[in-house]
Amino acid sequence: MSAEAPRLYCLPDADLNYAESLQRRFSMLRVAELPETGFCLLLDGNGLSLRWCDEAKLGAIKVDFLAGKAAHRRHYGGAEAVSKAVGVKKGQRPSVIDATAGLGRDAFVLANLGCQVTMFERSPWVAALLEDGLNRAKADPDIGEWVTQRMKLIHANSISDIQQHHLQAEVVYLDPMYPHRKKSAQVKKEMRIFQHLVGADSDADELLQQALNIASKRVVVKRPSTATPLAGKAAANQLSTKTHRFDIYSII
Ligand SMILES: C[S@@+](CC[C@H](N)C(=O)[O-])C[C@H]1O[C@@H](n2cnc3c(N)ncnc32)[C@H](O)[C@@H]1O
Repeated sequence: MSAEAPRLYCLPDADLNYAESLQRRFSMLRVAELPETGFCLLLDGNGLSLRWCDEAKLGAIKVDFLAGKAAHRRHYGGAEAVSKAVGVKKGQRPSVIDATAGLGRDAFVLANLGCQVTMFERSPWVAALLEDGLNRAKADPDIGEWVTQRMKLIHANSISDIQQHHLQAEVVYLDPMYPHRKKSAQVKKEMRIFQHLVGADSDADELLQQALNIASKRVVVKRPSTATPLAGKAAANQLSTKTHRFDIYSII
């Protein structure tokens, strides 16, 4: 994971009070010019986005729950594999700790279906982007109410810090980064940027034990189809899609 303080570049229409709050809470370094290399967060009147300056052609990453894929998943995502793996079914909406929140897409699908989701994200870059997207979603007249009620973000390391939050949930969901072997050009934009920014989450095995200590019903781990199980611990149940598999560890 990048140990550098996130750099923040503000465009002329940026809200400077918001910029100060981001700097303070995520230990960001405000820069006067857009750097030529490395990562940089850009703040403008529409919110926060991430740019990889070395690879500007990849464009920016922004968390937007109101448009694009997220909106599509909101309307049509009821039967997605992640919801089945977590145990969403008629009359059952398990509470979930998403211990590797990333850009919050899986959490959003689950919250949309009615699950209470507490998200942990340790990278300040990613946590700031996710918080920004959540804030805009919370202000939206259509989805703001349930996003506010059901999606909570904690910027912390779920391996070392989760216990001190004294949280309980029926399900702990894990989707750690995985070192992809495909040629980088084939890996889609967001994954390429994440691989450089966040790295391979090489401590993910520790997450499994932590998750098993906390979940009251099951731990669900999303893995690429060909990956070995976390910590070499095979799950009793699996659910497979074309590209992924969900390893399901039942507690009871
Ligand atoms: C593959 S992404 C998760 C994607 C996410 N499921 C989604 O739908 O957007 C993995 C994320 O987990 C975060 N992460 C990994 N280990 C973590 C830990 N111990 N505590 C908190 N966040 C962690 C990484 O920083 C990264 O942002």
